[in-house]
Amino acid sequence: MAIAPEPKNLLVVDGDERALRRTHEMLRAHSGAWDMFFARTADEALRVLARHRMDVVVADMYLPERDGLALFDIVRQKYPNSLRIMFCASTERDAILKTPMLLDQTISKHCGPKRFQKAIERAAVVHRRLADPNLAAVVARFEAMSTVHEHYFELQRLLSWPETPLDQVAAVIARDVTLTAKILQVVNSAFFGLPHHIESVRHAVAYLGMRTVRALVLVAGVFSLFTRKQAETFAIHELYAHSIAVGLLAGAIARMAAPEPALADHAVIAGLLYDIAKVLIIANLPEESEAIYLRSDARLPAHLAERDRLGVNHAEVGGYLLGVWGFSDAVVDAASFHHAPSQAAQDRFSVLTAVHVADVLDNEQRRQIAGRAGPTLEQAYLHSIGCSEQVDRWRAAVGAEV
Ligand SMILES: [Fe+2]
Repeated sequence: MAIAPEPKNLLVVDGDERALRRTHEMLRAHSGAWDMFFARTADEALRVLARHRMDVVVADMYLPERDGLALFDIVRQKYPNSLRIMFCASTERDAILKTPMLLDQTISKHCGPKRFQKAIERAAVVHRRLADPNLAAVVARFEAMSTVHEHYFELQRLLSWPETPLDQVAAVIARDVTLTAKILQVVNSAFFGLPHHIESVRHAVAYLGMRTVRALVLVAGVFSLFTRKQAETFAIHELYAHSIAVGLLAGAIARMAAPEPALADHAVIAGLLYDIAKVLIIANLPEESEAIYLRSDARLPAHLAERDRLGVNHAEVGGYLLGVWGFSDAVVDAASFHHAPSQAAQDRFSVLTAVHVADVLDNEQRRQIAGRAGPTLEQAYLHSIGCSEQVDRWRAAVGAEV
């Protein structure tokens, strides 16, 4: 990461005096690396910013008078090179999901110095992506995020807090018949090979895990944005079925290829979310979407048609959004590079491999959304990570499950 020459300037903004002192203590280990500045209000922070160039601004969501998001809106416009990191409790994530342009990363106040450093590194990566004016222009038009039903934000809030009791999450999901059906359908799919049919939401959540349920809820929320007419025009049900299938296929491939269970978990999450930006583009940019997905040459894959029209494709936009929303690097990389995995410069099987292969295999099965040319396997990439021999085995194994 190269934000600026050492030492870097860091501004922490927090209205709570005690919390400010705790942050100071936490960062003292880095006092050689940071020139630290502190402010209690947004206005005080702006006065500091007017006098000193800041590489990183970390602010609490709640500040007296102007809140953290309002401060970041000004920082974004006046000091676009400063990284913006929000101290964020789980209860505030709903506001942040709706404002992907305003900040580069969220972090808990009690994260510890190592995670704090990691958050800054990730913020730098996310921030660099937004330097692409085409990506910034597309994300700035994503108003539909703010119309995702409050119900989904309530669940995101619960699910992003690790100590939320399972029963509480299950109870909220059970209030939504459609979401309940979707979660039960996923957990009972052949991919998990469960000996018994799961009929209770609580068991489904326990089996899938909070992180996977969080991804499923996000997918369900984004896919609920469409009117019936839009859904028919763009074959949204096909896209939804494809996202679920790629999540399940990617998990199955990861379980065959790698022994670590965490990798398979991340593969399911990445497979569910890797195309989420395509859905958001359709929901928010209807005119361009008609030109891209319905009227452009059907031999041209969607990600190339998007680049022609928008200067950026859904993989790049999706990687950016998932980074802001705090998904793991593995999930972000899978979304960012699923159409060109060799660009990720990885040398072994990864979540990205599982998603890239799952996307192609599912497209082979359903040939394809609106008759458009499907993605193809990047053979040189698969060869370079030693997996080209295994694809036929994966195809045969998952083909039986689809
Ligand atoms: Fe894609």
